[in-house]
Amino acid sequence: MFITFEGPEGCGKSTHSKKIKHYLEEEGHQVLLTQEPGGTQVGKQIRTMLLDPRSVFDETTEVYLFAADRSEHVTKIIIPALAAGKIVISDRFTDSTVAYQIGGRGLPEDLVRYINMVSSRGLVPDLTILLDISPENGLKRALQTGAKDRFEKEALEFHQRIRHKYLAIAKDNPARVKVVNTDETEVEKVQSKIRRIIVEQINEKFGNKK
Ligand code: TYD
Repeated sequence: MFITFEGPEGCGKSTHSKKIKHYLEEEGHQVLLTQEPGGTQVGKQIRTMLLDPRSVFDETTEVYLFAADRSEHVTKIIIPALAAGKIVISDRFTDSTVAYQIGGRGLPEDLVRYINMVSSRGLVPDLTILLDISPENGLKRALQTGAKDRFEKEALEFHQRIRHKYLAIAKDNPARVKVVNTDETEVEKVQSKIRRIIVEQINEKFGNKK
């Protein structure tokens, strides 16, 4: 089973995906938690380039770098783990590229969707948890964790377009993408909502067996 966490800056993906991993392991599942960009050795180098505020990229170069990262990630990490029967949780995947590179940067839909298909080898998550947050709150939260990266430095409108695109993705894919709002500050309340969604999906897929 392949689960992805998505959302704008400061939505709490990392916190919640880690907690879900621990929870599922306690329930007896084998879980691999990974991330994009940076889920492989080469990917870590690509991630450094992508997040460095000193990097100046053309938008097309940027999307190719995310695609290169994903290509490594899918073939070397995700597909082998799924084949070994693990639940794979990825902090960001193809929806990030749609939200950030189409919504945020304004790249053509066709180009990005094609690049996503090639880089992911057609792999589509079984379930996507979209953590929704207002860009004002999200950026405030993201900045508590240190210096701004290249994306966090972008204007508020850029982040508003990303949120908008994420919500459009959810609307177009209601069976796969479940939206959980995290403007709510109580982490445990949000976490229990996410757990409920994931457990329901696992029961559906595996018929209650672990
Ligand atoms: P990350 O540290 O994962 O972001 P956050 O901590 O906010 O979740 O950094 C990844 C950044 O890269 C994030 O700003 C979103 C961006 N991104 C894209 O623009 N396109 C993509 O396809 C992916 C995977 C990430």
